[in-house]
Amino acid sequence: MKNNQHIGFGSSCVHAGFEVEQHHSHITPIYASSTYLFDSAEHAVNLFTGKEKGYIYGRFGNPTTNQTEDKIAALEAYGLKDEAGEPLVLKAILHASGMAAITTLLLANVSAGEKVLTNLSLYGGTQELVDKVLPGLGIETIITDFKDLNNVAEILKNDPSIKLVYIETPANPTLQCVDIEAITLLAHQNACKVAVDNTFATPYLQQPFRFGVDFVMHSTTKFLNGHGTAIGGVLIGRDIPFMQTKVTKHHRLLGGNSNAFDAF
Ligand SMILES: Cc1ncc(COP(=O)(O)O)c(C=O)c1O
Repeated sequence: MKNNQHIGFGSSCVHAGFEVEQHHSHITPIYASSTYLFDSAEHAVNLFTGKEKGYIYGRFGNPTTNQTEDKIAALEAYGLKDEAGEPLVLKAILHASGMAAITTLLLANVSAGEKVLTNLSLYGGTQELVDKVLPGLGIETIITDFKDLNNVAEILKNDPSIKLVYIETPANPTLQCVDIEAITLLAHQNACKVAVDNTFATPYLQQPFRFGVDFVMHSTTKFLNGHGTAIGGVLIGRDIPFMQTKVTKHHRLLGGNSNAFDAF
């Protein structure tokens, strides 16, 4: 079972996402290959058009990277159900860093003339990204205190150009917490998507998808890796077709892909 809903969380940390490859290695090997061979021109066409599953080019995907993505998706979905009562299935995309994951998230969801709404306590890099880079792309960010729910409701109601509500909870370094459920309800009432930076809690302590959010991201550099050996980031989404189309396109074209060594 890909999402490993049948085993404990600890076992999922070890086994989720794992698929036995042709040599039957008992853990996922490091696939150190930039590109992949095609059996024929027809095989290449089938891979490029998505008719057949397989690998083309490392920036688009890699077996080690993909198994890590499936593991993280399974952990964020662990024990959760979708609207139909079935085990929740999520799609994760591994990135070169947390900042790369946030960049993909923001640019896949917000365009020039549109806005992001966020809380006043954010990781410094995210704060600088929204302050210094997004305005150059015509994207404005409104920063407010998410503890004041009435104020958040007013802002959302009065500004239809807000397309994404961005939450970091607990925040780095203040450890300020945001009520994910309450903010998500307000955002969805106003046709806004919600993203949560879950870096500090990890899915072991907090699963934002339980509260209906649209995206979760991590700086995997921190607790999710835990070894302190690799810079990385991950973006996880519940709308699989959206993740497979617009988000994947942004991930590939912005070039913030991870690699087999860090994924390992
Ligand atoms: C909460 C949080 N989000 C995002 C980031 C950015 O991640 P990275 O340094 O992996 O790019 C950090 C980094 O410290 C962080 O603490």
